[in-house]
Amino acid sequence: MRVRVHQHVNPLAPFYRFEPQPFEIERAFENPKLPLFLDIGAARGRFLLKMAQLDSSRNFLGLEIREPLVVEANRLAAEKGLTNLRYEFCNAMLFLDKFLENLPAEILQTVAVQFADPWYKKRHAKRRMVNENFVETIVKRLKNAGEIFVQTDVDFLAEEMFELFRADENLREIERDENPFPVRTERETAVEEKGLPVYRKLFLKFKIQDSKLRRNLKS
Ligand SMILES: C[S@@+](CC[C@H](N)C(=O)[O-])C[C@H]1O[C@@H](n2cnc3c(N)ncnc32)[C@H](O)[C@@H]1O
Repeated sequence: MRVRVHQHVNPLAPFYRFEPQPFEIERAFENPKLPLFLDIGAARGRFLLKMAQLDSSRNFLGLEIREPLVVEANRLAAEKGLTNLRYEFCNAMLFLDKFLENLPAEILQTVAVQFADPWYKKRHAKRRMVNENFVETIVKRLKNAGEIFVQTDVDFLAEEMFELFRADENLREIERDENPFPVRTERETAVEEKGLPVYRKLFLKFKIQDSKLRRNLKS
């Protein structure tokens, strides 16, 4: 049976304004030293469930603001005996930095932001998850040569998000027509089945000492 939840929750509502405890990687995974794949806005977590089954060389962490989905996704992961998969309740729009505060350096290899809630109306723009602080936190925590994959079916939101990542000089932008992973998300499948466009980008983080190389690539 599918857990019933609200379609959207307001991340600025008082209920979602409590700071989370920082994530403790040692407690979450059997082998916490493996490279980490972080999916932000994981919803029911089916994308990561498949990814974790296909790839035991990495740990997978899904963040989601709708807590009942987190509980249910962790139940499914445990049922499958997956020790490289964990879901956590987190309002990533306000507290991603706090949540990742104890993450060891050089462990975060991949971040996926896939079909983040659009909050179409201008007066709701402040509720959008991808903002300057969100991007800054991800870039700070990402290992050198780590990657960020962003996709959405909402054109104006795609441009807004891409612009925020593009503005970070530690990132190099790469065009992507396809999802680089062996699994598609639930939303991605639904959109593609309707024949609608999906806007995608991959951003790679450069080592600081590679700044000369980065300048050359940009020119
Ligand atoms: C449209 S769904 C897409 C789910 C999945 N990534 C996919 O592609 O099928 C967006 C998800 O992001 C979650 N979300 C939105 N704002 C969030 C926030 N501030 N923190 C964490 N999750 C959030 C929503 O609850 C929802 O599950």
